[in-house]
Amino acid sequence: MEPSEVLVTGGTGTLGRRVVERLLSEGRGVRVMSRGGRPGTVRGNLLTGEGIEEAVRGVDTIIHCASGRRKTRQIDVRGTEFLLRKAAQAGISHVVYVSIVGVDRNPFVYYQVKLDTERVVERSGVPWTILRATQFHDLILAIVGILSRVPLVAAVPKGFLFQPVDAREVAGRLVEVALSDPAGRAPDVGGPEVRTLADLACAYLRITGSAKKILELPLPGKTACAFREGAQVAPGPAWGTTTWEEFLRSRIPPTEARVGEA
Ligand SMILES: NC(=O)c1ccc[n+]([C@@H]2O[C@H](COP(=O)([O-])OP(=O)(O)OC[C@H]3O[C@@H](n4cnc5c(N)ncnc54)[C@H](OP(=O)(O)O)[C@@H]3O)[C@@H](O)[C@H]2O)c1
Repeated sequence: MEPSEVLVTGGTGTLGRRVVERLLSEGRGVRVMSRGGRPGTVRGNLLTGEGIEEAVRGVDTIIHCASGRRKTRQIDVRGTEFLLRKAAQAGISHVVYVSIVGVDRNPFVYYQVKLDTERVVERSGVPWTILRATQFHDLILAIVGILSRVPLVAAVPKGFLFQPVDAREVAGRLVEVALSDPAGRAPDVGGPEVRTLADLACAYLRITGSAKKILELPLPGKTACAFREGAQVAPGPAWGTTTWEEFLRSRIPPTEARVGEA
């Protein structure tokens, strides 16, 4: 099945931008939905419902990457309900939803919202595929950047396990599943290595030439426990190929990176 036009919600975001690039590189028609309605996008807001009916009209497939940073439950859960009601009415033949590995194993609030949104997708009546991915390199970079802002040390939760993946690789897989028949839950995707946050932060400090030390902080609670127990690790063999260090070298300007550093 080859859709004529694909609607990408969140097509201006970290992942969605890569999805759009990939679809265009494959010669597909793309409609990008964004709240701002900037040139090249259609205006659509999952919080208010504005523009959603128009956004889904005339497309075959939706790759649903939009997610709210605030009012997340209203945007993700209620907004997805509304989007898919309109999609069902418009006769959309496939919705692909990107979720997160381990949302059913970690009580972290955002993950519970993702899990509830998965249920909305499953019950929508629109043929669906859900792809769960691990954390993108970009997110880990933002986290370690924030943790490293304090002087002298980078204070990092102790033992948190991550398997960062390249958003471009996930985008490629999303497009692949979108251009195939609806498949229900697709196999999870994750990056090539499982590492502690401290180890990832250490590599970041080394590559940026920082002399800061890592301070590991043991955190209490069920959420911290889930992160330590590997809830965010994808089952099965490694999938992605781009390592954290490869990503960092591609992102950090050479003047900031230590020359000759491994
Ligand atoms: N980041 C990760 O590590 C990671 C890992 C696995 C899965 N995921 C999932 O991948 C998806 C994309 O993540 P991301 O990191 O690319 O997110 P992001 O960079 O924060 O982008 C979020 C997108 O959502 C759109 N959006 C926000 N509020 C909206 C609203 N009310 N109505 C319509 N659109 C709205 C934004 O578009 P405008 O601002 O243009 O309106 C933006 O394009 C999310 O579902 C996330 O849970 C992320």
